[in-house]
Amino acid sequence: MTETAILMVGDQRIELPVIEGAEGEKAIDMSSLLAKTGMTSYDPALGNTSICKSAITYIDGDKGILRYRGIPVEEFTTQPKPNFVEVAWLLIFGKLPTLQELAEFREQLTTHELLHEDVKDQFQHIPADAPPMAILSATLNHLACVHKEHLVVDNSTMMLESVASLISQVRTIAAFSYRRSMGLPYIYPDPNLRYCANFLHMMFSLPYKQYIITPEIEDALNLLFILHADHEQNCSTSAVRTVGSAGANLFASCAAGVSALWGPLHGGANVEVMQMLERIHQGGISPEQCVRDAKDKSNPFRLFGFGHRIYRNFDPRAKILKEACDKVLCKIDRHDPLLEIAQRLEELALKDDYFIERKLYPNVDFYSGILLHAIGIPTDMFTVCFAIGRLPGWIAQWKEQNEDAGRRIIRPRQVYTGNVQTSYVSIEKR
Ligand code: ACO
Repeated sequence: MTETAILMVGDQRIELPVIEGAEGEKAIDMSSLLAKTGMTSYDPALGNTSICKSAITYIDGDKGILRYRGIPVEEFTTQPKPNFVEVAWLLIFGKLPTLQELAEFREQLTTHELLHEDVKDQFQHIPADAPPMAILSATLNHLACVHKEHLVVDNSTMMLESVASLISQVRTIAAFSYRRSMGLPYIYPDPNLRYCANFLHMMFSLPYKQYIITPEIEDALNLLFILHADHEQNCSTSAVRTVGSAGANLFASCAAGVSALWGPLHGGANVEVMQMLERIHQGGISPEQCVRDAKDKSNPFRLFGFGHRIYRNFDPRAKILKEACDKVLCKIDRHDPLLEIAQRLEELALKDDYFIERKLYPNVDFYSGILLHAIGIPTDMFTVCFAIGRLPGWIAQWKEQNEDAGRRIIRPRQVYTGNVQTSYVSIEKR
């Protein structure tokens, strides 16, 4: 028997269907609410609202579970380790690629790795100190100017080419924006290098000196990208879906994702965490004072890298990254005092009643900066690296929505609290 929820509105008894997800999670289907009652549901920040059905990523926030297409993220960190390109395929096309599919996808990534010269020239007109996330968002939109053939994606060949262009060129754009900010010549992608190694090459090679890619560093970047690859209906993904629901193309939709990710409460938190750790390291503030400030409601400061809308136990990505920081620093024989500071902060917060009562734990951004730092990525590029990692997720969500025959434009309602009808008063009489 199908389950229903009963809602009493005054004397009116409304039956609403209950739908069930693959893991047994239930949702009351509110889509007939307005028609049946004349009322909308009020759920600011959508904390109780499922905005779509999706088969891409599953999260159980109480148990700290994160799975891509059913596969727990932990399985991407143990041998035999997949690479980011394989995970991107998995998310976007719904299954692990065969050897042939992976080889074809790699070929496509190589074919599409060069930026159109007009896009490259655009970098010369961007101020060298422009925020890298602004450059990334603007340049993704600029791709739509030079790749008009990708504006309408209505067959699988076009889809594959569009996906490959975006995933390949995002790292070229990121590396070029870094080179521009440093006043360094651009280094073109090397078709012989794998995805992460190629990004490191474009970031750090010099015309007279090839950057030497060590397996530890390449692995660390691969892990970071995989752990960021999708996270169901988070703020930036919802932005991508909202823009895409209007029929907007993949470039415009992903550019919106970049803009949302930039915010310090979302992907921008990794920069804030690093700045906080640096400040503590330089003696500007103690870890104890940070925790006190975060609890002080008259102080806007938050303990960045802590708390999550969904995870109320632990964030599995943070757990993996914390272990990876230790291992990578040990392997590359580097000591980073910021790791000890982060561990001290975590220890203080986890035994503090404020954080315990509110179920605030380290999130993905708490330890990712230390790993990025070990790789040699400058702090202002941290969120850009998050965006490179998240791009497959945005594309997968955009594609899933686009292929849904029942898709409608996302258009929420509001409860109006402004003036009731009033009259215009001419300026002389005000
Ligand atoms: N430091 C101090 N207090 C916090 C923190 C924090 N990092 N996070 C939440 N709280 C407090 C809030 O002040 C609130 O307290 P109250 O009940 O006394 O009012 C309570 O915990 C609940 O927090 P909300 O902000 O309502 O939780 P929400 O789910 O809306 O926000 C968010 C989640 C944005 C991640 C929040 O925890 C936060 O701001 N964290 C710091 C920024 C951060 O690390 N963002 C990255 C998130 S992961 C990602 O996006 C990739």
